[in-house]
Amino acid sequence: MPLAATGDLVAAAAAERRAVAAFNVITLEHAEAIVEGAERAGSPVILQISENAVAFHHGRPGPLARAALETACAAGVPVALHLDHVHSTSLLHQAADCGFGSVMFDASRLPYEENVAATRAAVLWAHRHGLWVEAELGQVGGKDGAAPLDAHAPGARTDPDEARAYVAATGVDALAVAVGSSHAMTTRTARLDHALLGRLSEALDLPLVLHGSSGVPDEELRQAVTGGLSKINIGTALNTAMTGAVRAHLAENPRAVDPRGYLGPGRTAMSRTVTAFLGVLDAAAAPVAAPAPAR
Ligand code: G3H
Ligand code: ZN
Repeated sequence: MPLAATGDLVAAAAAERRAVAAFNVITLEHAEAIVEGAERAGSPVILQISENAVAFHHGRPGPLARAALETACAAGVPVALHLDHVHSTSLLHQAADCGFGSVMFDASRLPYEENVAATRAAVLWAHRHGLWVEAELGQVGGKDGAAPLDAHAPGARTDPDEARAYVAATGVDALAVAVGSSHAMTTRTARLDHALLGRLSEALDLPLVLHGSSGVPDEELRQAVTGGLSKINIGTALNTAMTGAVRAHLAENPRAVDPRGYLGPGRTAMSRTVTAFLGVLDAAAAPVAAPAPAR
């Protein structure tokens, strides 16, 4: 199947009040697991590679992006390729050539006016090169090993009036909002501010994105999708699953040396996690069953 466009997957989800999941890819095994998990669920999916993952691969986006692209094009469900949490303009400018159809340009740590200026410039460049752009306003905490709990700090949340002005000033295609989730959580204990999400959804006419979704419990995710989120970003949950399976394999096989012996269970654990998350998102979108007719 040809590579899907992130914008198309997100727009279709938003039109149907459901959400498409975007999973972070660090290794080839992540991409394979995400596609396998999505095929099992029968759901479209987005493979996303972050600037941090590019840094791990010696700062070169091409090799992992092209591997993910090949994996996406061989999939039996629609799969898109997204460049996530980009700060560097030089990386942004490599996105289209590496096969990405979309980017998340992250200037959220800058003061408001600087965030607007940097994001506006990124959007102008990206649109000229056919890329769909997501940006962030407010601060979803826990990036780069920062303390995960600043999601509840004053000023961390996205303000609806500011968000409306930001979207108009930057021309972004989707907005990541800070509503209580935090990156890199290994427990699913986050509580989202559903009232704020409702106000954001009312105020804005573009798809909204949740980052840091690994720490959000199933029921909170369902409610957030019903409340207007259209793209759900998940990363750490895959790493937790993979590392747990690798650790268990090595504990049982202390003399093992062939990486396929532990990467295989790691990949399987990730693909199961993908299917489980997609099941939660699908259930959130399922139409409410009509009441049985009175007899
Ligand atoms: O952009 C990526 C996501 O926000 C992943 O966050 O690793 O906490 O699930 P997570
Ligand atoms: Zn994120």
